[in-house]
Amino acid sequence: MPLDRLGRPLRDLRISVTDRCNFRCTYCMPREIFGRDFEFLRRDELLTYEEIARLAQLFAQSGVEKIRLTGGEPLLRRDIEDLVRMLSPTRGLRDLTMTTNGSLLSEEKARALKNAGLHRISVSLDSLDDAVFRAMNDAGFPVARVLDAIGAAAGAGLTPVKVDMVVKRGVNEASILDMARRFRGTGVIVRFIEYMDVGTTNGWRMADVVSGREILDRIAAQWPVEPLDANYFGEVAERWRYRDGAGEFGIITSVTQPFCGTCTRARLTADGRLYLCLFATEGFDLRAPLREGATDEQMLEIIRSVWVPRDDHYSEIRSAETEALKKVEMSRIGG
Ligand SMILES: C[S@@+](CC[C@H](N)C(=O)[O-])C[C@H]1O[C@@H](n2cnc3c(N)ncnc32)[C@H](O)[C@@H]1O
Ligand code: SF4
Repeated sequence: MPLDRLGRPLRDLRISVTDRCNFRCTYCMPREIFGRDFEFLRRDELLTYEEIARLAQLFAQSGVEKIRLTGGEPLLRRDIEDLVRMLSPTRGLRDLTMTTNGSLLSEEKARALKNAGLHRISVSLDSLDDAVFRAMNDAGFPVARVLDAIGAAAGAGLTPVKVDMVVKRGVNEASILDMARRFRGTGVIVRFIEYMDVGTTNGWRMADVVSGREILDRIAAQWPVEPLDANYFGEVAERWRYRDGAGEFGIITSVTQPFCGTCTRARLTADGRLYLCLFATEGFDLRAPLREGATDEQMLEIIRSVWVPRDDHYSEIRSAETEALKKVEMSRIGG
């Protein structure tokens, strides 16, 4: 597979399986906008599992080694383990994972996902303080049930389990140390994520971002830490280890230290549009040619023709001008 215009190979595919969610996280799907009147995709607009599996095969032939299922909330899609079962034998796939809010991740579901071939899972959790977490998910969902989901994932062997926390100034920054403390020594890897200007509905302001540097300083003031090497080219999280042997954590600094230069990711929406950047305004429709009967060769050529001219590096050129762009929503494109 050829490189894009900035010399980057296509390696990761994030597949959003639904644009719907049972949470209304204030930084992602704020309730006042994604209320009852917000227009979600119709069922016939969604790619079927067969269509997703076919595209996954084609992407694997185009260089993709890692697939993450996301959304919206991926566990809202019925029998998602059936899709996992279809994807897991894909040739060349080295990593098959999912990001979920954990609300529907029972022990039974975690086992079904593992048995279907899911390698590991990331669960999002923004605070251990119930009031803070309920306010952030804006669905009244309690911390305890997400902790149960994390336990279910670990129990089913979907490891290493990662816990993703978006840090927003004045909202949950006090939870940084709580989260670090809670998961130190458990094998769970917490990843602290800078609040990003994805979409246009969350009212993002730079002043609300807690930088990765500040997050690190807070943790390092409590426990001595040292950096770890990246696991692979293009890994988004900076990896750190507690020097006392209590495990590792990650920091994702897409705002203050963009990693566009090594970005090997493409994103497929639930209705089959391919986006080349989290901050893109336009996607390329793959569903139409798929449904019009394109051959594998034709589809491979379309994927190639989209990837080769790619020159997106939004995070590196973020400015007042780019902030005003009409960017696709996170719930649609998948985190
Ligand atoms: C869009 S969600 C989809 C999967 C699932 N619903 C979940 O929450 O894990 C994927 C990830 O994106 C993160 N996310 C959403 N909006 C964000 C923003 N504005 N900045 C940074 N991360 C964000 C979420 O916290 C979550 O970890
Ligand atoms: S971050 Fe995930 S759980 Fe929260 S609203 Fe967005 S899609 Fe839903």
